[in-house]
Amino acid sequence: MLLRLGTVPTLVVSSPAAAKAVLRTHDHIFASRPHSVVGDILFYGNTNVAFAPYGDYWCRTRKIAATSSQPARMRDAAAASAAVDLSEVLSNYSNDIVCQAELGRLPREEGRNKLFRELFKTNSKLLSGFNLDDFFPSLARLDMVSRVLCAKAVKQRKRWDKLLDDLIDKHAGKAVTEEEADFIDVLLSVQDEYNLTRDNIKAILMDMFEAGTDTTYISLDYAMAELVRSPNAMAKLKDEVRSCKTEGKEFVTEDDLSGMSYLNAVMKETFRLHPSGSLLLPHFSTAECDVEGYTIPSGTRLLINA
Ligand code: HEM
Repeated sequence: MLLRLGTVPTLVVSSPAAAKAVLRTHDHIFASRPHSVVGDILFYGNTNVAFAPYGDYWCRTRKIAATSSQPARMRDAAAASAAVDLSEVLSNYSNDIVCQAELGRLPREEGRNKLFRELFKTNSKLLSGFNLDDFFPSLARLDMVSRVLCAKAVKQRKRWDKLLDDLIDKHAGKAVTEEEADFIDVLLSVQDEYNLTRDNIKAILMDMFEAGTDTTYISLDYAMAELVRSPNAMAKLKDEVRSCKTEGKEFVTEDDLSGMSYLNAVMKETFRLHPSGSLLLPHFSTAECDVEGYTIPSGTRLLINA
């Protein structure tokens, strides 16, 4: 379905065949992202992974993100019988996993989870709010709302700057072994090879913290809610988890996951019922292309109804 939102042609992709065509067959044409003025400010000129336009930089950042994130180790604490805000616990837990992968060798800091949560919340308000520029790009400069939004984005970017500069400074110039290295160490070690500025590194980090935390915790939150509503499924899953804890083994480990078919099914069903990015992120076409017999012009924004 081709809509015109303001002056921007927008294709809504709803069928599996069309989704396969734009995300697989013609991926190189639809892999870009529409330009976002707020993203431009927040993500240092859209040089993060998620909003970078398709091209050389796009390829470099994806390569780093795909090859350099490390598996995380984690330890969880269970509360006895008190009421627990599970959403908060899962949000902290997801942020801990991401932080462990990205700043694993820094000591855990009081209040850092809370600061991250505040920053994510404001980022998502700024990025998802109505912005005239997204629909009438040529009118943006005249628009007061956009100007207010941009001023808020600049203020928010300064808060990120403070946090990220501090984290990078704590890593810079310190020799670490390959085992000790976290994602910031890895980014710093490939900075010259991949021709990354400090702002590029901050943009990539921001993305990995944000994209990795909310999606993970919202999916876990829904999984727990569905399991609580379905005691049989909960009992079956508990049996599977407990069967992995053989004598002398305290925790389920990553190696166990491949054999945990019920857990796998629970997560897939959770993603099906509650996709955490139900329209994915908007894509953008960089050339004219035929999809399922329709000609999609270059410069079309895509919403993929997952
Ligand atoms: C349950 C967990 C997760 C879910 C459901 C999820 C979902 C998504 C979705 C729907 C997109 C948009 C894809 C598109 O528009 O084509 C996305 C992109 C992305 N995610 Fe995740 N994600 C999860 C975990 C993570 C983690 C743990 C990280 C990193 C630490 C991460 C990093 C990213 C990045 C960097 C992008 C942008 C990729 C690109 O533009 O090619 N995600 N994710």
